[in-house]
Amino acid sequence: MKINPLYLIPVAIMAVCCNSNEPTIQPKEITWHGWNRYQIPETDSLANYGYRLISNTAYFLGPKGTVMQISNGMNCQNCHLEGGTIPWGNNYSAVVATYPKYRDRSGSIESIAKRVNDCFERSLNGKPIDSTGREMKAIIAYLHWLGDEIPKGKKPLGSGIMDIPFINRAADPLNGKKVYTSQCQSCHSVDGAGQKNPEGYGYTYPPLWGPNSYNIGAGLFRLSRLAGYVKNNMPFQKTSYSNSQLSDEEAWDVAAYINSQPRPSKELGKDWPIVSKKPADYPFGPYTDTFTEKQHKYGPFEPIKNSLSRSK
Ligand code: HEC
Ligand code: HEC
Repeated sequence: MKINPLYLIPVAIMAVCCNSNEPTIQPKEITWHGWNRYQIPETDSLANYGYRLISNTAYFLGPKGTVMQISNGMNCQNCHLEGGTIPWGNNYSAVVATYPKYRDRSGSIESIAKRVNDCFERSLNGKPIDSTGREMKAIIAYLHWLGDEIPKGKKPLGSGIMDIPFINRAADPLNGKKVYTSQCQSCHSVDGAGQKNPEGYGYTYPPLWGPNSYNIGAGLFRLSRLAGYVKNNMPFQKTSYSNSQLSDEEAWDVAAYINSQPRPSKELGKDWPIVSKKPADYPFGPYTDTFTEKQHKYGPFEPIKNSLSRSK
């Protein structure tokens, strides 16, 4: 049995409410932090394999993969940090608790397998894997090991990527280039191609654009997702949600620079079948509002958001 004391012990904070002198005690939710992978029982070979697939995807499933060659050389863990266990590091805490669920992007009820294959086809610019095969079963077993204790329907605090505040201007790729040069380039390279690992089957520093990066259908191609991920996680190892290095403006601008660079395409005609459900930062029309694709890509997003909420 794995116990995560931080998540289980409720913390009470004192808050003095309104005009009353009576302090009221309100429980404050704690940010979720995942189990340590060393806690996966050795006997659970499926969850162990799932962890290895997520942390070292390229070895098994990359262009030189030992099992299949169906993805671009990146690892799931490049974006879902430390096996998807880090608060606001795109963690997997909500997956088992909230899937299957309806998603506006596909306009359908999605299983965990469908969602995992979405990331294979978009974030890893690859092909979907057999949803009944050993690899998918292993990935799902790992997600269960991580998320089984979360009550059904609950989205723990810190799951996924944080919605950081909008800035009141369009994000600026030129300013972002300056941020990139000083804070990112040493690892991700001047041409955004990252750096291959010594064995050559994958990456020590993953690519941010170019042919081996995520494609235009990936979540990170939406500026709010990329800015929110970067703000709380990059530069790598110096940064966490409680110790971010970039201002909000720098995060939005560097995201604009990265997403203005070339990357693989994808046919997206079936996405967002209900056009009015497209998020403010979805960069491809048609839209139900009158804002340009450019504004939907770089902002300012506040006016779009306001017009979306007015029309609902
Ligand atoms: C290039 C970055 C990237 C890579 C690589 C990547 N993902 Fe994702 N993934 C995302 C983003 C972005 C989201 C959406 C997060 C959000 O909007 O909060 C996401 C969401 C998910 C979700 C849904 C999470 C939830 O709480 O609803 C699952 C499951 C998932 N990814 C699994 C995988 C698996 C398995 C792999 C490897 C095969 C993978 N991802 C690789 C970026 C990536
Ligand atoms: C010290 C080296 C280093 C620096 C500096 C750095 N990164 Fe990263 N970055 C990494 C590593 C390593 C990963 C993958 C993490 C993993 O697999 O555990 C990563 C992953 C990413 C990812 C998700 C994966 C992908 O390739 O799409 C993005 C986006 C990203 N970094 C953006 C940035 C930005 C923007 C900056 C500058 C603000 C930056 N990084 C600075 C090392 C670095």
